[in-house]
Amino acid sequence: MAYKSLWIAALLSMVSGKSITIDTLQSAPAFCNGLDCPKFTVLSKTKDYEERAYDASKWTSTLISGMDYQSAVSQGFMKLFDYISGDNLDKKKVAMTAPVTAKVVPGQGPACASNFTVSFMVPFADQDNPPKPADPNVYLSELPALKAYVRSFGGFASGDDYIKEALELDKALKASNTTSDYHTEFYYTAGYDAPFKPFNRHNEVWFIEL
Ligand SMILES: *[C@@H]1O[C@H](CO)[C@@H](O)[C@H](O)[C@H]1NC(C)=O
Ligand SMILES: *[C@@H]1O[C@H](CO)[C@@H](O)[C@H](O)[C@H]1NC(C)=O
Repeated sequence: MAYKSLWIAALLSMVSGKSITIDTLQSAPAFCNGLDCPKFTVLSKTKDYEERAYDASKWTSTLISGMDYQSAVSQGFMKLFDYISGDNLDKKKVAMTAPVTAKVVPGQGPACASNFTVSFMVPFADQDNPPKPADPNVYLSELPALKAYVRSFGGFASGDDYIKEALELDKALKASNTTSDYHTEFYYTAGYDAPFKPFNRHNEVWFIEL
């Protein structure tokens, strides 16, 4: 729905010849903090979760294996931060986007490493031609259009908080008889805020529909 108002604003500006302000274009949710973030429409909503349809989008990613969520995501974040700071073949600065996501594939047992694929979305201005990463451990990938069940929560989210919210999401989806099947071998975490932002923090856990 937000995109409808965007189109109307664009059409009005063509007719009137006036340029549209950034404010008018800012149809992304407030929790994106004014940064580019992946486009979605809300298909349904309950008190526990919402179902979203995401457009296809390009991302920059790196895979970190480890036992600890926080340290894996920090390591991945630093590699991606280097990429956007100019560590790419074009030596180009790339705008920060939101959220920082991690695809978590849990290890097979208590002493087994999990895989954390940490990603930044490529900003809309660079989606057609993203700079190629210089670090061989950083790669570009395309996330196809997909549907996801999303549960949002606040505060400073630890790896354990994401697991707790993922279990709540799973419980809520199982209690509803209307939901589609979803992947249970992995889930996504999404964090939207800088570490020093104290209030109104926004975090999400995503289950991808089959
Ligand atoms: C993690 O990724 C590595 C390399 O792709 C793979 O060999 C391993 O099986 C993966 N582990 C899990 C838990 O998915
Ligand atoms: C789901 O189905 C079960 C068994 O048919 C029923 O008892 C329950 O009330 C249903 N729940 C919802 C949310 O419709």
